[in-house]
This record gives sequence, structure tokens and C-alpha cells, in this order.
Amino acid sequence: MLLSPSILAADLIDLKSTLKVIEPLVEFVHIDVMDGHFVPTLSFGEIYTRSVAQSTSLPLDVHLMVSRPEIEVPKYFDIKPANLTFHVEATNFGVRLANQIREQGIKAGVSLNPQTPLATIEHMLDHIDLVLIMSVEPGFYGQSFLPLALDKISSLKKMIGKRQITIEVDGGINTSNLSQVTSAGADMIVAGSAVFRGGTAEQIKKNIAALREIG
Ligand code: DX5
Ligand code: ZN
Repeated sequence: MLLSPSILAADLIDLKSTLKVIEPLVEFVHIDVMDGHFVPTLSFGEIYTRSVAQSTSLPLDVHLMVSRPEIEVPKYFDIKPANLTFHVEATNFGVRLANQIREQGIKAGVSLNPQTPLATIEHMLDHIDLVLIMSVEPGFYGQSFLPLALDKISSLKKMIGKRQITIEVDGGINTSNLSQVTSAGADMIVAGSAVFRGGTAEQIKKNIAALREIG
């Protein structure tokens, strides 16, 4: 299981030391960019994301919860994240956008809100490297996992077939539902509260170990 902790749930003022704690224990760091328009919350944008990139050796897993991704996506190209994911609900030009991301040598991801059917991304499957299934409505960390995501993960796995596409799942994942998420077919897990709950370095290490024991 690839683990991508969401820093939205971390101490954003003392992030540098938190990044040092998680660096040896996880595969990615998940950056939740929220514009206060596509989702009600405003988090941070490309400037903070660049600072994170300069403060860690972890590959960046950028999740753009923004309107007009055609304008926002290119702002992240020079930061060179590993994955750059936009929402299918926010654009009518997903194939073109995914192609632009790939041209930069960055993995192109597309995300779906809980109410969005898989059929909306079927035409994009040959142009993307990652699908991010939301298991909460985006906008906040610490929400409850929506079990409808499980069927969606297994249907997506079938739909992907032999293509090399990572299935990432995001929202409300913790030790009580993680095994269901991975058995449904998830390759990569985002966890905010389940990783950063407690706040101290010792607690964060314990939280990650507890997730690893299951996944
Ligand atoms: C929700 C974000 C998630 C969130 C995850 O809008 O996209 O990445 O921060 O946090 P938890 O694991 O607490 O739901
Ligand atoms: Zn996210």
C-alpha cells in the first residue's frame, strides 16, 4: 500500500519538522489545494506547495480542488510534483489537460466526488496515470468515510483492465475501514486525521504503524 498523508490535517506552522517525521515512513505527501470556490474552504496554493517541495525529499501528490483547472494546473508544472490531480467535475477538457500534465513528465490524475459516476472518466483512461476516488465530499479533513466508495473502487479496477493506472482513495480512511478499501482494489491511500491525530512525533509514528499493520 502506498501511503500519502494529507498535510491539511497537520500543524501547518510547524510543517518542516512534521515532514522530517513522516519522510522515512511514507511514499508521498498529499497536498490539498482548495480555492474557496470549487469547495467552500480556502487552504493554500502554488506558493505554499513550492515551499513544501523545497522542505522535503518526499514526492508531492498534489490534489487540486479548484475551479478552472485549465488555469491552475500550469502553475504547478515547475514545482515538479510526482502526481498532479484535478477534478473531472471542474472541467470539460479533461483529456487535453491530462495530456498537458503528462508532457511535463508529471503523472496526470483525475478525481471524482462521491456523487460523480465513473462513466464521466471512461473517455480519459488512455490519457491518465491515476484516479483519485473521493470517499468524502471534498472540502474538509476529519469527515466520515462514505462506504459507497467501495463499490466504485472495484468497478474502477474492472474498467481500468490492463492499463497502468493507480487507484488512490481519499477521505475518512482509518484503521477501521482501511482493509475494506485495500481489498476493494486501492493501491494508494490518503490519510489526514488518521496520520496526524495526536500531533506529537511519537503519536504520528504510532498512527502510521497502526495503518501499516493493516494495509
Ligand atoms: C478532503 C481532502 C482530503 C482530506 C483527508 O477535501 O481532499 O485529502 O484532507 O483527510 P481525512 O483523512 O481526515 O479525511
Ligand atoms: Zn485530498
